[in-house]
Amino acid sequence: MAKSKILFSLLFLLFTLFELFSSIIVTAEHPPFHRSISPKSLHLDRQKLSHLHFYFHDTVSGPRPTAVRVAQAQMTDKFPTQFGAVAMADDPLTIGPEPESKLIGRAQGIYASASQNDLGLMMVMNFEFSEGKYNGSTLSLLGRNAVFSAVREMPIVGGSGIFRFGRGYAVAKTHLFNTTTLDAIVEYNVYVFHY
Ligand SMILES: *[C@@H]1O[C@H](CO)[C@@H](O)[C@H](O)[C@H]1NC(C)=O
Ligand SMILES: *[C@@H]1O[C@H](CO)[C@@H](O)[C@H](O)[C@H]1NC(C)=O
Repeated sequence: MAKSKILFSLLFLLFTLFELFSSIIVTAEHPPFHRSISPKSLHLDRQKLSHLHFYFHDTVSGPRPTAVRVAQAQMTDKFPTQFGAVAMADDPLTIGPEPESKLIGRAQGIYASASQNDLGLMMVMNFEFSEGKYNGSTLSLLGRNAVFSAVREMPIVGGSGIFRFGRGYAVAKTHLFNTTTLDAIVEYNVYVFHY
């Protein structure tokens, strides 16, 4: 009887020690989940304001469209606003309004008809830049685009690379809209705070 009690106590001790060591090992393996750091340690001590100006080329017609419809509702065609239509775009961004002018990036994302009564697109777009020091940096736009208004403002909700912590707004103005092909060239002015 006493022997088995001792054996049991020994096993219990061993088990407790094992648990203790394994928990020490586990805490030693992982850095803490949360800690406060200074903005300086990420080189975030100086906020900048940038203005970007470019043209967005949305081609839906012809053999090489840059925006394609990927979904729609059964009743989408019953709405003059094409409510429910969803398009995926990979639109070139250029320095001038001419399609052959210098490419500085691409607008990749989704626009969808989100309004039943007037034409209002929901825009979810990442601008990916390829020019100079901006190469590889991105800005994310999320907003409402009332495409038949002369000027539309949409929020810039984030960014990466040069545009980390980016926030600001984009002002879009249609430069050319071809009513036959529905292709559009849109002028963008983007104002963004970043570090
Ligand atoms: C941008 O970066 C990519 C890869 O990092 C490189 O291949 C490309 O040549 C760069 N483009 C410009 C315009 O600097
Ligand atoms: C619209 O596109 C058609 C077909 O490509 C072209 O013939 C016409 O000139 C264009 N209109 C404008 C205003 O650019």
